[in-house]
Amino acid sequence: MPDHRAAPWFKRLLKPGVRQKDSLITPRLLLRPLRTQDARDFHAYARDPLVARFVFWEAHTSLTQTRAILQSMILESHLTGLHTMALVLRDSQRMVGTIGLVERLGADRAELGFSLARDCWGQGLMTEALTTYLEHLFTRHDFTQLLAKHDTLNPASGAVMRKAGMTQLRQAPERLRYKGREAQLATYRADREGWLAWWAGCRRPLP
Ligand SMILES: CC(C)(COP(=O)(O)OP(=O)(O)OC[C@H]1O[C@@H](n2cnc3c(N)ncnc32)[C@H](O)[C@@H]1OP(=O)(O)O)[C@@H](O)C(=O)NCCC(=O)NCCS
Repeated sequence: MPDHRAAPWFKRLLKPGVRQKDSLITPRLLLRPLRTQDARDFHAYARDPLVARFVFWEAHTSLTQTRAILQSMILESHLTGLHTMALVLRDSQRMVGTIGLVERLGADRAELGFSLARDCWGQGLMTEALTTYLEHLFTRHDFTQLLAKHDTLNPASGAVMRKAGMTQLRQAPERLRYKGREAQLATYRADREGWLAWWAGCRRPLP
């Protein structure tokens, strides 16, 4: 497995994720359950067509719609017991994204997904969120395998998966029609034992 300890993004991850009640803390983010009060922040980025371009949901068209979507996400989180987490900037307390399970694939396998406000892209924030979230799912929720898929036209998403220690499956891209075109999806996976060993290596101080 590649040694990412010297990678620039890793320097920001040296402080391990700390778990509070129902929340996770990274150096720059708080990951916590969604709240109805997130509606305005959520709408501010979910109405952006570029944020919605490579996800299965459409850009939100009104705050009313965002409120309804948020309510159903919160309800679903309660029903499944696995929260979709809001990503909140610790500095400003602004809710700038989500990370969560998009599909359960059995008792101990699931697919996850994520999205982030456009003005926050390119700062390593999603890598920070994904590593902490994977650790949480593997150590607190008994998952043995987690998958994530991305449109091959959205390579930044694949880069996040790789930087977070996931490995691309050696298989032909999955073909899927969405948003009026035939897309190709690449799949990444993380297996609990291998991923936790990789993550422990990342957190070891450099010699
Ligand atoms: C994809 C997304 C989550 C990335 O979040 P982010 O916080 O900007 O990601 P990070 O900064 O942690 O890492 C992005 C990496 O992608 C790389 N990248 C950016 N654009 C790229 C491109 N066109 N080709 C290849 N790599 C690219 C960056 O260089 C960076 O890697 P580096 O740190 O090694 O330089 C964010 O852009 C987003 O939310 N997009 C809209 C929703 C979405 O597409 N969700 C994913 C659905 S599968």
